[in-house]
Amino acid sequence: MDNRYSFVGGDRGTWRVAEIRAIVGDGLAAVDRVDVVNQAVAEVPPNSRWVLQSFTSNIRYAKRDEITQLRAVQPSLNRSEAAIAVLIPIKKNAQWWAMAQDERRAIFEEQSHHTATGLEYLPQVARQLHHCRDLGEPFDFLTWFEFAPEHTQAFNELLMRMRDTKEWNYVECEVEVWLHRALERSL
Ligand code: HEM
Repeated sequence: MDNRYSFVGGDRGTWRVAEIRAIVGDGLAAVDRVDVVNQAVAEVPPNSRWVLQSFTSNIRYAKRDEITQLRAVQPSLNRSEAAIAVLIPIKKNAQWWAMAQDERRAIFEEQSHHTATGLEYLPQVARQLHHCRDLGEPFDFLTWFEFAPEHTQAFNELLMRMRDTKEWNYVECEVEVWLHRALERSL
């Protein structure tokens, strides 16, 4: 299936690890590179320390007008100027998952303004949401962001604003993996 992805932490790949920060809960083992592979990698390859698996999927919460607004401004991944990427795996708690879809949407958008806030940082930040809860993975989501180095401060401000919302009361694990695009593909 072409919507399957694996993020392999090891010694190869396009992205060189600048820093791994555990924000809530455990972090991830230190590695030199992250390889983003468009397929399911079932086992940790030699010289690698972890694999996070995911899939891209349909929209869950966004309403028509939000989708229209996002499509009007969201940039694509892999822009040549986007030399920085941040992989942020996130796990939400049992209380979040016990709620109904409409209750989660109310916290996500009406009370936390996730999309409205995020839209302020487009088109500078390109993003891709990956799901993994249904794969039995340690995280529920792998969120991926790309931007040019001059937008690093704005991205950090976005992270602070997101973490100050009611939605983030339900986040029980969160890790930041800061990446720089490597000039050569692998070591
Ligand atoms: C860059 C600006 C951002 C925009 C425009 C944005 C937009 C969105 C939208 C529209 C969704 C809902 C997708 C759906 O309806 O299925 C979503 C989900 C999500 N976003 Fe963001 N986002 C941004 C930044 C962030 C950041 C910085 C983080 C993490 C620190 C993040 C974490 C998530 C997570 C975990 C979900 C899934 C939530 C859930 O299903 O419970 N987003 N985002």
